[in-house]
Amino acid sequence: LFAGQSEFLKGVVAMSGLPPADRPEICFAGRSNVGKSSLINALTGTKALARTSNTPGRTQEINYFMVGGERLFLVDLPGYGFAKAPVAVVQQWQALLKQYLQGRQTLKRAFVLIDHRHGIKAVDAEILSLLDKAAVPFQTVLTKADKVKAADREQILVQVRAALQKHPAAYPEIVVTSSETGQGMETLRSIAHGLSEE
Ligand code: GTP
Ligand code: MG
Repeated sequence: LFAGQSEFLKGVVAMSGLPPADRPEICFAGRSNVGKSSLINALTGTKALARTSNTPGRTQEINYFMVGGERLFLVDLPGYGFAKAPVAVVQQWQALLKQYLQGRQTLKRAFVLIDHRHGIKAVDAEILSLLDKAAVPFQTVLTKADKVKAADREQILVQVRAALQKHPAAYPEIVVTSSETGQGMETLRSIAHGLSEE
C-alpha cells in the first residue's frame, strides 16, 4: 500500500471542498505539535509530504494525501489545543471537525495522537468524546516515544489505558510510535493496509 509514491491532494476548509468519497480514508487528529504531519511523513517514507509546522494553529485546513496505489486517503486534521488561537478560529475549526467526523461515510478509523510524554489531557478528552458521539471508531497513537523517560513510560501507558475505558468508540490497542526512530510504523502501515481493503 505504501510502496508507491504518496502525494498531497488538497487542503479543505469546508465540507463542500472534500474530495469525492470514493475510497476508504483514515484521519489523524491531535493537539498542535503532537507530531501528526511528521507521522504522515514517516508512514509514507516521504520527508516533506506533510509540512511540519512551527507556527501552531495557523493551518485550519483538512489536508488530504493519497498513498501510493491510490487505494486510501490519509487525512491530516488541524491541530487543536493551541493556547493562542482566537476563539472564533477555534469554533470554526471545531464546527468543521464535527461535520467531517459525523458526515464522512468512508472514514474507516480516526487515529488520535497523544504525546507519550504527556498522556491524555482535557482537550484530548473533548475530542475523544466527540468521536464517541459521532460513533467514529478511534485508535490511540502515542507519539515521540523516543523522548519519553524510561521511568515515566509505564505510568503514562496506565493513565492512557484507564482514560480510554471511558470511551466506547476507542480501540483498546494503543500504538506506540516515534517518527524519529520509526518505532510503530510497520504496525500502523499494516493497520492502514487492512482498513484500505474493508
Ligand atoms: P500542527 O500541524 O501544528 O498541529 O503540528 P503537528 O501535530 O503536525 O506536529 P509536527 O509533525 O509538525 O511536529 C511538531 C514538532 O515535533 C516538530 O519539531 C517535529 O520535528 C517534532 N516531532 C514530531 N514527531 C516526533 C518524534 O517522533 N520524535 C521527536 N523527537 N520529535 C518529533
Ligand atoms: Mg501538522
